[in-house]
Amino acid sequence: MALLKRYGVYTIIAACFLYLFYQLSFPYNPEGIQGDQKDSKHGDKGEQPTVPKLKNYDWTKVPVRNPLTSLTPLPTGKPLPLPKIQFDFTKEKDIEKSLRETRRAEVKRVFERSWKAYTEHAWMQDEVEPISGGSKNGFGGWAATLIDALDTLWIMGMKEEFKKAVTAVEKVNFGTSSIDTVNVFETNIRHLGGLLSAYELSGENTLIKKAKEVGEMLYVAFDTPNRMPITRWDFHKAGNGYAQVADEVVLVAEIGSLTMEFTRLSQTTKDPKWYDAITRITEVFEKQQNKTHLPGMWPIVVNAKKTDFTVDTGFTLGAMSDSLYEYFPKTYALLGGLNPVYKKLYEVSMKTAIEHTLYRPMTPDNADILMSGFVRAEGSRAMLIPEWQHLICFTGGMFALGGRMFEIKEHVDIGRKLADACVWSYKALPFGIMPEVSHMYACPNGTGCEWDEKKWKDEVARKANMENEEDPLKNIAAARLPKGFTEINDRRYILRPEAIESVFILYRITGQQQWQAAAWDMFTAIQKYTQTDLANAALADISVTDGMPPKMDSMESFWMAETLKYFYLVFSEPDLISLDDYVFNTEAHPFRIPK
Ligand SMILES: *[C@@H]1O[C@H](CO)[C@@H](O)[C@H](O)[C@H]1NC(C)=O
Ligand SMILES: *[C@@H]1O[C@H](CO)[C@@H](O)[C@H](O)[C@H]1NC(C)=O
Repeated sequence: MALLKRYGVYTIIAACFLYLFYQLSFPYNPEGIQGDQKDSKHGDKGEQPTVPKLKNYDWTKVPVRNPLTSLTPLPTGKPLPLPKIQFDFTKEKDIEKSLRETRRAEVKRVFERSWKAYTEHAWMQDEVEPISGGSKNGFGGWAATLIDALDTLWIMGMKEEFKKAVTAVEKVNFGTSSIDTVNVFETNIRHLGGLLSAYELSGENTLIKKAKEVGEMLYVAFDTPNRMPITRWDFHKAGNGYAQVADEVVLVAEIGSLTMEFTRLSQTTKDPKWYDAITRITEVFEKQQNKTHLPGMWPIVVNAKKTDFTVDTGFTLGAMSDSLYEYFPKTYALLGGLNPVYKKLYEVSMKTAIEHTLYRPMTPDNADILMSGFVRAEGSRAMLIPEWQHLICFTGGMFALGGRMFEIKEHVDIGRKLADACVWSYKALPFGIMPEVSHMYACPNGTGCEWDEKKWKDEVARKANMENEEDPLKNIAAARLPKGFTEINDRRYILRPEAIESVFILYRITGQQQWQAAAWDMFTAIQKYTQTDLANAALADISVTDGMPPKMDSMESFWMAETLKYFYLVFSEPDLISLDDYVFNTEAHPFRIPK
């Protein structure tokens, strides 16, 4: 989820450090960003008046302070036919089928184990702790894992468990919260997305009723003078009807990734207010697209209070931006192609992203692959930093899907090379699992890219000395760097889905079996090293050379919502949740494309 899609708490912290690191490391830095960040993210906490914490807010009854005079309606008309997305699969041979089904059964077995651990140790809590058997509630205490996994239960044919889960969902109370500051983005993609998707698949009325409750709650976060939402939202202040103002420091993915769920909620309930709410944000993106320091893209941090999305100078398709871009083609599809602005936002931003964020890494096997990095841009200068994140692996699927949807062959080719880079990275690490954040040596251009061991070693030495003087790891062996990597900044693997997500999409689009083979290698590696007595656990370091990678007592809800769902689908018949019929939100919840 890409910030971060589903950035867990640790990821958020890591991302903030990463962001600060960039702010501090590169000289042409506009004034004010760090100051602003301090002011609105942390600085105002202590001075708040004491807000009563009530036990049960009715979000439909909170008085509206900034009423609207008109609402943008959903576009009307007959949905436009989209080009065919999936490969034209023919009937498989018996031997292929039996191998595929064996693999699929193994994925399901792993899911069933994780589900059992959740039901026995953390039922109705947000997450189960896969080592200790404890539980945690970092997402509001609204049964995040249960709601996130609903549609996977349905897709895997676990109808009994699904029924039991739906009954439990009825009891989740969105009028109370285990946390004071609600992450609107996470609640949107996990809870609202999960409920909407499970409702579409099953037709269970409880689920749309609960989706509406989440929608009513999140809608209150938009009650600000300029109708921009508060993304890190004070639950009790809002519930008590205090005046609210949008923040000056907002992560662009968090404000830009509400479009799919809000559109689908309006389509399902026939109430346009949610579509109206996100359309106001989309209009800002559109107006300011060419006014940023890297025209076509928007920076990681935007100012929602001043409705200015142009000031910051850091750009990426990765953490903290990712699903903003991912949602353009998908929202276009959900709207039946009837709002062309989403096509334009995709095409214009991807033109810039291709030119400035993509690079070919220098690898010992001279692999013809592409990666996507971080760009610091100001004025006419744009500098690429060849960072490489697990999160950014979603781009392979995004380009391939966008390329199919808008008939841009170049995008499908780029998508293939990006997805290949993730497959390559998994293989390059000792346990067959790529790290959360690393850096590579970027070739100056796509062609002159012969492996040069000396160049690589010089770059590793340069980074070790200059950028982290305290680091005693002065040589490559001690830094545990596979050839090609110049730095590993975050050695964790937290059960993330982005690599298998792109492999799945590339398989469905190309029909090539190499993608199923790659998926199986990824799955066996992940299962082997993350399995615990109860379920599966995040890994603290996937680069250790002595013994097994150490585990962390964490299993985020996306493990069952996304990672295992994509593994299951890549080994399913291609018409199960076909990409011609569905688009997935950034938490892997499928929504049906109108026809
Ligand atoms: C931004 O520039 C692109 C050309 O690069 C153009 O197609 C697009 O319409 C422009 N957007 C706006 C809002 O002017
Ligand atoms: C690409 O880079 C190589 C090595 O630096 C160089 O020899 C070659 O001329 C470059 N090609 C282009 C098209 O810039």
